[in-house]
Formats: sequence, structure tokens, C-alpha cells
Amino acid sequence: MKGAGIQAKDRLVFALDVPTAQAAESMLDRVRESVGVIKVGLELFASEGPAVVRMVRQYGKPVFLDLKVLDIAETVQRTTARVADLGVSFLTVHAERKALAAAVKGRAGHPEMNILAVTVLTNVDQADLRESGFDGTIEQAVVARARVAAEVGCDGVIASGKEPTAIRSAVDSPLLIVTPGVRPAGKDVDEHARAATPRQAIHAGADYVVVGRPIRDAPDPCAAARAIVDEMQAAFDQQSLSP
Ligand code: C5P
Repeated sequence: MKGAGIQAKDRLVFALDVPTAQAAESMLDRVRESVGVIKVGLELFASEGPAVVRMVRQYGKPVFLDLKVLDIAETVQRTTARVADLGVSFLTVHAERKALAAAVKGRAGHPEMNILAVTVLTNVDQADLRESGFDGTIEQAVVARARVAAEVGCDGVIASGKEPTAIRSAVDSPLLIVTPGVRPAGKDVDEHARAATPRQAIHAGADYVVVGRPIRDAPDPCAAARAIVDEMQAAFDQQSLSP
């Protein structure tokens, strides 16, 4: 039964978007008890490199390296192999067939590292998509890319909280759905064009939610994370009760 036995804390990915290893450590010391997965993104990786991934791993939680890789197949495959050697649990790759297939090849020998396909970024709206030459809806683009991700053997996708229902009904394989652009009700959605609350994201079928600024910038980051986990837990528990 979906949702049964899930500990919501394990499904909260904290986006550790800070500029230095020192800032990362002091933030992790505050939130470590309230979040499940630590996401290292482009900012922190650009400033501190692989050493920061090793530091974050010492907190004993799965590490999500959000490099949003996109390049020719050879480069993606070799890069993915280097990332796998770092011992991370999740790596993001933009959802183009050749890049995704290369990433799946590159993690050979490290099946524990999940390859997540970035479908359509949550700050993209319909006008942005049209400008890029795609005439369909955002949902159609997300579903098409999720299908490709499943076909080439990815473990999951990144999609907004508006799309999990459509992905689940269009794609048979059990893809993980990881949802950023998540904001507690009433909070500023920042640049996210397709934001959802934690409850909405889980209710729609997300397995993980990604949250950065609402935790990082809160007066009490630990309490902010706990409130999000509580809202997620209620949604998972509700799922486990529905037939
Ligand atoms: O601060 P906020 O909660 O908006 O942070 C969201 C995080 O998720 C950022 O680290 C951003 O890079 C990432 N993200 C993503 N895919 C999206 C939107 C945001 O990986 N579609």
C-alpha cells in the first residue's frame, strides 16, 4: 500500500545551497536531525569541489549531487563514473535520451547511485517552453521526458508537484519522483512557476520533496524542516489509508 511505513523525514531532501564548506557544516549541524537527504548543488560544488561531498557524507545521510549534467555521451558517461566513485546516492542529468543512457552506463558497478532525469525545471512556464520551440504543454513535455528516462533505465525523474499524477498514469515502470519547488502554504514561491505545498506534492505521488530556502533562511531551520516533515508525514499516512 503506497505511503505505508514511510518515514517522511527520510524523504525530505535539503538543498544545501550555501557558498562555502564552513557555511555548509554550520547549516548541517543545525538541521541534521530533521532532514533525510542532503543535496549539494552547483554553487557549493563550484566553490568546494568533491571535498565537500566527502565532508557531507560524514553526516551519515544519503548525498544528492545536483549537477544537472548535459553533454555528449562520452563526457556524460565518464563524468558519471567519477561521481559514482564519490559515493553519492543521487545524480541529476538533463532528460535527453543520449545523455541519460550514457549516465546509466557510467554508473555501472554502482547500482546504488540513482540517476534522476531533470524533466522541465520548476521555474519554466508555458511561454518559456514555447520559446524553446516546443508547442505542447508543460505536462506533455514532462511526461515525454519521463518516458525516455524509464526506457533508458533511469531510476527516477525530477518534476514539479503538478506532474506526478500524469507521470504515474503514463509510465509503467516504478520511477522515483523527486519534487523541488516546494513551499509550505502561504510562503513566497520565489521563482518557481509550478510550486506546490509539501502536502500537494506527496498527495500527487511524489516520493521525495526538495526544499532549500524555506529551511536555510528560516530563523530556526530545524523547526522549519520539522514542520515540513510533519506535513509530508500526514500526507503519506493519508495515502496509506486510502484504498
Ligand atoms: O530554495 P529552493 O527550495 O527553491 O531550492 C530548490 C533547489 O532545488 C535548488 O537547489 C535548485 O537548484 C533545485 N531545483 C531543481 N530542479 C528544479 C527546481 C529547483 O533541482 N526544477
